[in-house]
Amino acid sequence: MTRLPELEYRILAALEPGKVVSVADIVEQTGTDQSLVMAGATMLAQRGLVTIVEESLEEFSLTDLGREAAKGFPERKALVALGLKKTDEKAELVELPGRLGKDDVRAEVKWLLRKGWCNRLQVSFFDHLFLTQTGEAALNAKGADESFVEKLAEMGRATESELAAAGVDVKAALELLKGRNELLKRKKRVNRKLSLTEAGATLKAGGIEQAIEVNQLTPEMLIRHKGNWGDVVFRKYDPGLATAPKYPGKEHPLQRVIQEIRQAFFEMGFEEVASPTVDTAFWVFDALFQPQDHPAREMQDTFYMAEPKCGRLPDDKLVQAIARTHENGGDTGSTGWRYKWDIEKARQLVLRTHTTSASIRALAANPNPPRKVFCIGKTFRREATDQTHLAEFMQIDGIIIDEQATLATLFGTLEAFYKKMGAEEVRFRPSFFPYTEPSAEVFAKMGKLGWIEMCGSGVFRPEVTRPLGCKVPVLAWGGGVERIAMLRFGLDDIRKLYLADIDWLRRARLSG
Ligand code: PHE
Repeated sequence: MTRLPELEYRILAALEPGKVVSVADIVEQTGTDQSLVMAGATMLAQRGLVTIVEESLEEFSLTDLGREAAKGFPERKALVALGLKKTDEKAELVELPGRLGKDDVRAEVKWLLRKGWCNRLQVSFFDHLFLTQTGEAALNAKGADESFVEKLAEMGRATESELAAAGVDVKAALELLKGRNELLKRKKRVNRKLSLTEAGATLKAGGIEQAIEVNQLTPEMLIRHKGNWGDVVFRKYDPGLATAPKYPGKEHPLQRVIQEIRQAFFEMGFEEVASPTVDTAFWVFDALFQPQDHPAREMQDTFYMAEPKCGRLPDDKLVQAIARTHENGGDTGSTGWRYKWDIEKARQLVLRTHTTSASIRALAANPNPPRKVFCIGKTFRREATDQTHLAEFMQIDGIIIDEQATLATLFGTLEAFYKKMGAEEVRFRPSFFPYTEPSAEVFAKMGKLGWIEMCGSGVFRPEVTRPLGCKVPVLAWGGGVERIAMLRFGLDDIRKLYLADIDWLRRARLSG
């Protein structure tokens, strides 16, 4: 007597030596789920007790048009509508739409002609359809294709052999149905069949019984079995069994990237600051020594507030220091931009075009070294959207205020940061910003995306730092957050981050 786990016992019990049984039959006989039967059969096969044979079959079902055709093929409906009964009887083609009650009769005519049921000929300038002998014969006998479709409508879905068993001449039908893919759906189905091996037959002949199978040993079992709990069989875990994927709720990928960026800067000893999204041009442009006629300030690049138009400026001493720096350099050692600075322009409210306004506010609030500050926030530019640009996006800006700070500190910090975010390589290129000297653009490389521009950077000019009372070097940089998300998720289109593409959102891996 061999004791077997329930599943295996049931399968062996359903098999007889020399017989081949389909899995579908075992499912029906034992009332066990198909995936469980297969799991049990696989275990038996591994132990050499059962053989599994797979045959792949094509299964047919009908499309909507196919179900329509099951009530009468278009060409048959046309034949009836035309009222043709005897070979060589004719009808005018133009009458067909009216008789069938539809405008487009191209399909009907095509199949009438292709099946040779009718010929098309002109009689006194008008197209006529003539019934052929084949057509007359067809009036009294359905074609194999028609029986095929009718049977399939009854059966729902069936394989070739199932249709043949139902009396359909499958070969002839499929020949006739060539080119009518709009009627049929085909799907591959795998049929699995089981049979006992010799070892399996021997085992069964020796007698088999079902073991009590448990997942877990409980105190109750220990008591109930009074020491006989050793009779039970513990069900083995099969971590390889396929299950349906689960998609629990999770953070939006962009939100996750924002958290990772914050974490990275915290780890490098930075403090985080917040700054107004709607700010005065003073903090967005003027304090950054950006001249008031700078093209970036123009309406076509920057969104200006309609209501209220103006905001409050900081204390007059600071405003005057900035004004002097723009006009003649003040006491920064520069000659300034040499124009008349207009305080009204500085009061204008804008949707900030960069988060560098946060850096400059932080510097003004406390210029004493050493400090490391960053800000992440929404920024806006009147820009056409494309693969790498959005009109509403996010930026990360940072500054390092430190007596010892050099360009090498800046490059080292940025390289470390972007590599943390998934860049394979980081590259710097000379650039220009009104508020930094020297300036550099930072590029990061990521697999198939190649080199992407990540941020602008540099050392704040004395015209920026001096009026705020800062006398030591200030390293500064600012760049797109969505670009970092592109690196992190290997995205080739920035817009994807703002579309509710549920498949992508589900699949996006939040951790490493
Ligand atoms: N503000 C610049 C931009 O938006 C980036 C930058 C920040 C450059 C700080 C230099 C220093 O592109």
